[in-house]
Amino acid sequence: MDTTAFLRAHIRTVPDWPAPGVQFRDITPLLQNPQVFRVLIDAFVHRYMAPEFRPSVVAGLDARGFIIGSVLAYELGVGFVPIRKKGKLPFTTVEETYELEYGSATVELHTDAVQPGDRVVLIDDLIATGGTMMAGRRLLEKLGAHVMEGAAIVDLPELGGSQKLLASGLPLFTLVDFA
Ligand code: PRP
Ligand code: ADE
Repeated sequence: MDTTAFLRAHIRTVPDWPAPGVQFRDITPLLQNPQVFRVLIDAFVHRYMAPEFRPSVVAGLDARGFIIGSVLAYELGVGFVPIRKKGKLPFTTVEETYELEYGSATVELHTDAVQPGDRVVLIDDLIATGGTMMAGRRLLEKLGAHVMEGAAIVDLPELGGSQKLLASGLPLFTLVDFA
């Protein structure tokens, strides 16, 4: 079995959660099994260890992006910065509001989280409408960083987010898609 099929087999689909009509792609089974978790993290480490893709910072999106992003940053030997839902960060922040597959949200980033010239990989568990990743990218760019690539475990291409992000000029690296 290749890596994509192996990872796909460990993602659980929960119908009608958190709202009717949503097929929720639950990544917790990937984390629960240490062998599977290692395959998952190694897929990202392998890409971002390469000199042309190596970031100076990994930024993770609240909340599931923290789980994989912090481990990736640790393995790469670079810093990790969290992009959080509004009201959680204690220092001065920049903020962006965006629409979700279900609802809307505002995210924040500490103003000293990145420096102009930083080369950032922005990571989350999943891309649906792309609103979260687009907002995260805007926050990082407000502070002068360059977002080299967006990364996620899962892409839901039917929701159009990955296409929108690519069209905006953001390269993407994703491991599994659910059409
Ligand atoms: C989910 C998911 C992504 C986002 C993707 O997070 O983890 O962050 O939605 O959707 P989008 O591409 O349409 O923006 P959610 O906001 O549910 O928060 P959580 O991680 O705190 O559960
Ligand atoms: N975030 C937005 N849409 C989602 C989905 N269908 N499954 C898991 N997380 C999501």
